[in-house]
Amino acid sequence: MSDVACSSGTFLKALPTLTEYPHDLLSGRHEIVAEEKQGGHRMTDLMIVVGARPQFIKTAPVIKEISSRNIDLTVVHSGQHYDPEMSAIFFRELHIPKPSVNLQSGSGSHAKQTATIMRRLEATILAHSPKIVVVAGDTNTTLAAAIAAAKLNVPVAHIEAGLRSYDLSMPEEINRKLTDHCSVLLFAPTKIALHNLKDEGLQRWTYLTGDTMVDSLRMVMPALRSREAALLKRFELQRRDYVLVTLHRPSNVDDLDRLREIHNALKHVAKRLRVLFLVHPRTRGRLARIKGLAHSADREFTLAPPQGYIENLALMNNASCLLTDSGGMQKESFILHVPCITLRANTEWPETLQGGANRLINRPGRISREILRVAVNEDLRTRITSLKNPFGDGRASSRIVRLLESSLQRLK
Ligand code: UD1
Repeated sequence: MSDVACSSGTFLKALPTLTEYPHDLLSGRHEIVAEEKQGGHRMTDLMIVVGARPQFIKTAPVIKEISSRNIDLTVVHSGQHYDPEMSAIFFRELHIPKPSVNLQSGSGSHAKQTATIMRRLEATILAHSPKIVVVAGDTNTTLAAAIAAAKLNVPVAHIEAGLRSYDLSMPEEINRKLTDHCSVLLFAPTKIALHNLKDEGLQRWTYLTGDTMVDSLRMVMPALRSREAALLKRFELQRRDYVLVTLHRPSNVDDLDRLREIHNALKHVAKRLRVLFLVHPRTRGRLARIKGLAHSADREFTLAPPQGYIENLALMNNASCLLTDSGGMQKESFILHVPCITLRANTEWPETLQGGANRLINRPGRISREILRVAVNEDLRTRITSLKNPFGDGRASSRIVRLLESSLQRLK
């Protein structure tokens, strides 16, 4: 750990003061402007930057752990996800304190979104002088925050470091690699992630901590149990009589022909097994262009808005199988012993593939046969129930916060 102090010992001295900084960095419609007008320069120990749905989930137990210690924390929301169903509900359900700053970056092309977050966050970092900036996952928010902080010589800590799909056509793969390479503290969730980092020469400040998503899942398990019966009733579902679907990756939903093929495959499944499709905003816009689109009132093939964290997990927990392209949901279904089919050519979570718990299928034409086969396979379910969980013991957050705390001590 002493290396952390050596590598970043100069960062405080190198940090420009607010007044030395170009004025345009401080302009824009975000809260930091108001703070600065009030002479709001304040020092914080840690700044955690979140912005997209999975980050709220990954950081919630870390924020809880930090709050129980004597560490000053500033939570910044980039505004990448802004619909209440993509953002506010997670803060409520996971008891995350309201962010001190919302950068209101909103949507846009990758370059525009990343640049907006970088520009606004730079001003925020200057105003708060964090000793360490903490980022999580692999979204545009993660990368923007890592670059903005690293360029100000503020050490970056990356939660969920070392994931690789080895597919550079995924925006998330670019985000993960670059974030790891400008981070000082790397928290790897699994042994494979740790090896990936070592392969890229990043072993120096790398720690195997386990995955904070296990901590989050454990945190909400009692609430999940208490809500599942009412939830199934609301959707008129029975345990194990439906397939749960979520898709949002550009590779699946941006090409209308592919999306139409996926939709047709799901219509085919719906003749035998009910389909509940929770539609991400990105997918919602694209799906609307498909003729003969399944209807939200269609009992066999229901389209519904994205659900909160607990509802989503409860629906997964009771499904006969999951079809997804989400990284987090592949892992959650593994932990909940629900068979998963991933509509992608690769995965950054190879651990989930063991025992056939998760299957990669990239051709939409093959998904209906596979769903119908997996959904009724009791042997598969028994097998995956006995698999060991490679994602940690639910104490990743306390390990991470201990490491952050000792790094802060050394930076004093
Ligand atoms: C982002 C992350 C992805 C993560 C996913 C979880 C990147 C590159 N991708 O993908 O890693 O798995 O979040 O959901 O960061 N939109 C809304 N309302 C919202 C948010 C988005 O309508 O609250 C729409 C916008 O039109 C936007 C589109 O969804 O253009 C995509 O949003 P964006 O933040 O670019 O990426 P996601 O596809 O959500």
